[in-house]
Amino acid sequence: MQRSGRLSDASFELLSKCGLHIARSRTELFCRVQELPIDLLLVRDDDIPGFVEEGVCDLGIVGENVLQEQKRAAKRPMQTDTVLPLGYARCKLVLAVPEQTVFRDLADLAGRKIATSYPASLGALLAAAKVQAEIVVMTGSVEVAPRLHIADAICDLVQTGATLEANGLKAVHTLLESQALLIARQDRLSGAKAATIERLMQRLRGALKAGESKYIMLHAPRSALPAIARILPGAETPTVLPLEGNPDKVAIHAVSRESVFWETMEQLKAAGASAILVLPIEKMMD
Ligand code: PRP
Ligand code: ZN
Repeated sequence: MQRSGRLSDASFELLSKCGLHIARSRTELFCRVQELPIDLLLVRDDDIPGFVEEGVCDLGIVGENVLQEQKRAAKRPMQTDTVLPLGYARCKLVLAVPEQTVFRDLADLAGRKIATSYPASLGALLAAAKVQAEIVVMTGSVEVAPRLHIADAICDLVQTGATLEANGLKAVHTLLESQALLIARQDRLSGAKAATIERLMQRLRGALKAGESKYIMLHAPRSALPAIARILPGAETPTVLPLEGNPDKVAIHAVSRESVFWETMEQLKAAGASAILVLPIEKMMD
């Protein structure tokens, strides 16, 4: 997985939610996981798909943007693929142009220069749209290219949009909605390591599911039960408990597999619920 950066912090956090802690310092290349026979290799994200492809590592955590770019750029088809989307490090790969530039569709980029660190992804888009444009490859700070007159547009990652805004650029087309992925070569997932990998995957799935899931508790009139059951988002059969000294009212406990929004709580209240509590769930195993 990635040595430093946004992806790296979130990845360590996810591993710790899986009950996995690293024995040595994060500044070392190799870290041993204390609880399972797993070695973590901390590298630049660009190296990760190749290491998995070549068998240097069995699994990798990398952004979809990096995997897609390298698959497109590869001379031979890569066997490495997603085994589990991890849901964090969400960002978009977009085309952006200066705010004052009129952009109607991709054809407007014909004959233009576009700066990017994602030449293969951009090349594929342009080819599919049958637009001929010049790709200017940059390894970083792509957002300054229009101001320096190196390019008319850029193709870069956007997370909050702050970088685009600070550089007077506007996003006009999305190439990819990216997130962190667990990647592997399916053809190498069997054998002696399979049991460890399966244990890791089960914990990862459990941690991810628990992250979104909520435990909901509320009070409601018995008559409102069907209406409330319909509103509870992605809930399994709720538990209905009697309330001492109040035969017309019940307590309802339910696990919701989705996020619970304020709108949902307002709907529950409108349906007759009171004392609504939404609690985070730490761990889950089916
Ligand atoms: C990415 C991207 C933008 C910025 C977008 O760069 O290239 O510059 O993040 O984030 P924002 O929408 O939240 O402003 P990164 O920090 O990964 O560094 P790099 O371009 O130097 O690789
Ligand atoms: Zn950048």
